[in-house]
Amino acid sequence: MGLVIAVDGPAASGKGTIARALARHFGLPHLDTGALYRAVALAAQREEVPADDGTALGRLASRLDLSLLEDPALRTAETAERASRISAHPEVRQALLAFQRGFAGQPGGAVLDGRDIGTVIAPDAAVKLFVTATPEIRARRRWLELGAPDGEAGLAAVEADIRARDARDRDRASAPLRMADDAILLDTTDLDKDAAVRRAIACVVDRLGPAS
Ligand code: DC
Repeated sequence: MGLVIAVDGPAASGKGTIARALARHFGLPHLDTGALYRAVALAAQREEVPADDGTALGRLASRLDLSLLEDPALRTAETAERASRISAHPEVRQALLAFQRGFAGQPGGAVLDGRDIGTVIAPDAAVKLFVTATPEIRARRRWLELGAPDGEAGLAAVEADIRARDARDRDRASAPLRMADDAILLDTTDLDKDAAVRRAIACVVDRLGPAS
């Protein structure tokens, strides 16, 4: 079996950047699983499927149009919020499970990032990272990414969104955001992007041992 690396963590923790860099460094394919939930959210919005209809959302997820993964609307705050809501439905999670497990199980290995990779999707991953940072610093990063809209009030609004999404992702019954018992905690609060990536690579090399 190839090398499987699971990268989990809350919104704007830096897990996506880290997962992409690990994939490049170790020559592995990468799957941003949050994008799958965002694509289901977008499809639901466009097809006017209500966010509380788990059965219909599950059906939508099982015939997901993968071209939605390229849609610029995937990255808006509204889609993130909607993705967090629809991802609480077990029917949606179940519909996306086989695709994610298949990706993780490909012969050469893979890097996946999300909320439940180390706990549910790839519990046997050789290396699991749990990437986190304080809500304040995550909000500031996301706000800067958005072009720093509306000054301090804009920053406060982004922080409120992030805290609400954290709470929802952590408190849901189905595959909540949780650090796997055998994951390595990587706190990026005081690290810039390059330092966080260097630390993540070092964690993987360290976990794999001297033979790697
Ligand atoms: O990682 P992201 O911000 O793109 O994820 C958007 C939402 O999708 C997130 O708030 C919760 C959900 N999600 C999930 O439930 N499980 C995953 N493995 C990835 C994302």
